[in-house]
Amino acid sequence: MADSKNDRITEYTDSEVIEELIPQIEIPKQKEFYKIPRRFGSIPIDELPLGCDLDKQYYKIYPRVGLPFQKANRVTFGYPELDPNRLFWGDNLHVMRMLPSNSINLIYIDPPFFSDRNYNVLFGDQNEIRSFTDIWEGGMPSYLIWLNARLLEMKRLLKSTGSLFVHLDSHAAHYVKTELDKIFGYDNFRNEIIWKRSSGHPLSIKKFESVTDTILVYSKSEDVYFSSVPQPLEDKVIQRDYKSKDEHGYYQNVDLTGGKGGGKEAYMPFKGTLPTKGRAWAPPRREKLPEWASKKLPANYAKMNQLEKCHALDEIGMIYWSKSKNPRFKRYLPENPTRFATNLWDDIVVLSSMSKERIGYPTQKPQSLLERIIKSSTKEGDTVADFFCGGGTTPIVSQKLNRKWIASDQSRVAVAITQSRLESLFEDGKKQITLTEVPDISVEYWGTYEIPELENLSDDEFRDFIISAYGGRSSTSSDYIHGFKREMPIFVGSSKQDSQVTKNEVINFAKDISEKKGKKQGIMLAWSFAQSARVAVEKLFQEGETSVDLIQISLTEIESSEFRAHITKLHNEYDSFLKFILPPEVIVHHKKIKSMIYEFDGTESISLNSGASIVNIQWDLDYRGRFTPTEGFAYGRDQKGKPLFKIQYKFERVGKTPIACRVQDDLGGEKIYTEIISVS
Ligand SMILES: C[S@@+](CC[C@H](N)C(=O)[O-])C[C@H]1O[C@@H](n2cnc3c(N)ncnc32)[C@H](O)[C@@H]1O
Repeated sequence: MADSKNDRITEYTDSEVIEELIPQIEIPKQKEFYKIPRRFGSIPIDELPLGCDLDKQYYKIYPRVGLPFQKANRVTFGYPELDPNRLFWGDNLHVMRMLPSNSINLIYIDPPFFSDRNYNVLFGDQNEIRSFTDIWEGGMPSYLIWLNARLLEMKRLLKSTGSLFVHLDSHAAHYVKTELDKIFGYDNFRNEIIWKRSSGHPLSIKKFESVTDTILVYSKSEDVYFSSVPQPLEDKVIQRDYKSKDEHGYYQNVDLTGGKGGGKEAYMPFKGTLPTKGRAWAPPRREKLPEWASKKLPANYAKMNQLEKCHALDEIGMIYWSKSKNPRFKRYLPENPTRFATNLWDDIVVLSSMSKERIGYPTQKPQSLLERIIKSSTKEGDTVADFFCGGGTTPIVSQKLNRKWIASDQSRVAVAITQSRLESLFEDGKKQITLTEVPDISVEYWGTYEIPELENLSDDEFRDFIISAYGGRSSTSSDYIHGFKREMPIFVGSSKQDSQVTKNEVINFAKDISEKKGKKQGIMLAWSFAQSARVAVEKLFQEGETSVDLIQISLTEIESSEFRAHITKLHNEYDSFLKFILPPEVIVHHKKIKSMIYEFDGTESISLNSGASIVNIQWDLDYRGRFTPTEGFAYGRDQKGKPLFKIQYKFERVGKTPIACRVQDDLGGEKIYTEIISVS
């Protein structure tokens, strides 16, 4: 009697059995919850996500701003023929709107949480602060509307097999879940992952300490790609479950029966014992057995009926008989025991303050968290995106796992840190010879443009850029017509700032627009116009031939320039987005403290953009032509969280050493300074 009770207990502690014994309860669809019973009268139920307009979706409250991407930088790793991975600096709503539909396999986002206002401003950029003010102004509804507009774009970008992981905490998770149900459909809700992010501190507050985050997972459709991720089985589980031992090693006794099926022999007595009522003998397949056992089994094992298989297993000692004559299968502990990850993630190592991985900003996520997400939802070569990338954990892990990636952040400092981490990863990879073909990184700006970079563009690239910024479309239908804006021909001058549009260019443009296009009006955009060109415009107008509008692209701040006035007169929604910036002036002093130890001081560096200040300073103390910050010098902060302008460093070698310093201001201006110093 005692024995059979014990057997019952082991049966219940076997997780597989428990799963089968507990009936699966169907949860009603959320839509049905939303249906208000008739007796409550007619209450309007909004099925659209918060802030969504039936016709214009989010374009009404967040108009489309068709500014171009400025290709500011291309970091190459030696395989320029591969499609580059893309790192965007800009507001992700507008960045996403420029990307093609159905193109991404996995999107992970870790948006600013709806919690404490100041905590969420990580990098101190003015763009970041402006966006946060927008988000928090109207409380939770405003946060949800802001996020919904972006979630809707993400759905458009995902492939039909794609998934979205939204990382939140308890402040907003439940509200965002309701919105996601409306955007993706309740049927496409896949998981609520609970990630234990810290072990907690005993605090005498009036509630339990919150140590978890929530990651909501949605698929674009039921065709979603998913791969179970095997995890090493924890020691405590091994010790709990694999207690018995024989000459083949540790094992646990598991149920030998399964649900119905398996032929009539599966219901017959096995050495005098019948299977539990309503169940059948279900011996495992050969592949499920340890190698030694598989070798000992007869060659025709697969063809045997269930009962014969039970006998064959018993012959080779794979069956455990309890005192009450209950046969159970011996599941041996494999060499590398694993289990599949569930939705409870309490085994991901939290980043400690001393961790080598840690950059130094509060919301950095561990790489192992992203590794599990990426492995579960993509294959090698697939595309992973993170539109709130912060310090770049998602692109780093994607790169390590041979996935393509797209990342964006509206903080220039975040983008710089991401870029640095990716470059360091490549450098480390080179040392270990582990990385294979690495695509370039294309760093692109949306909405804020670096003036010196514009000058480096070819005339064709410059024309495309200016026409796109002006809201037109490029089309080289003649030497002098470079594009159109609502059928109005456009000419764009050279990219060189000291170039001037000449009288002849005006006359030829006017000729082309009337002779080739039968038009009487056109627009010329350029850095400057010769006086004779202006006179020619006047003359053409007085003669009633053609009216040409001259729009000067000015180097002065966009707030006061003629260019901005022209653009914002036509598109006032561009007003808060379009900005031109200059790189800071970087001044670095260094002095020797003692043998091999030097102090570097960048305190005198200044931003050249009005109202901006320096927010980050990075150091590469072994500069080899590619800026990769020395460990610990990518995001230096003092006790108060302010950028660390002065640093000390101990060199390992004497002699001439190239060093570099990269500085960012809070409007996004960035510059690299280099120098060769003599270390002694
Ligand atoms: C919580 S952090 C992400 C941290 C990241 N998961 C990591 O491991 O480093 C959120 C990021 O979203 C960025 N962000 C906020 N609003 C944004 C927007 N509208 N467009 C792009 N990035 C935005 C912030 O600058 C910040 O870097």
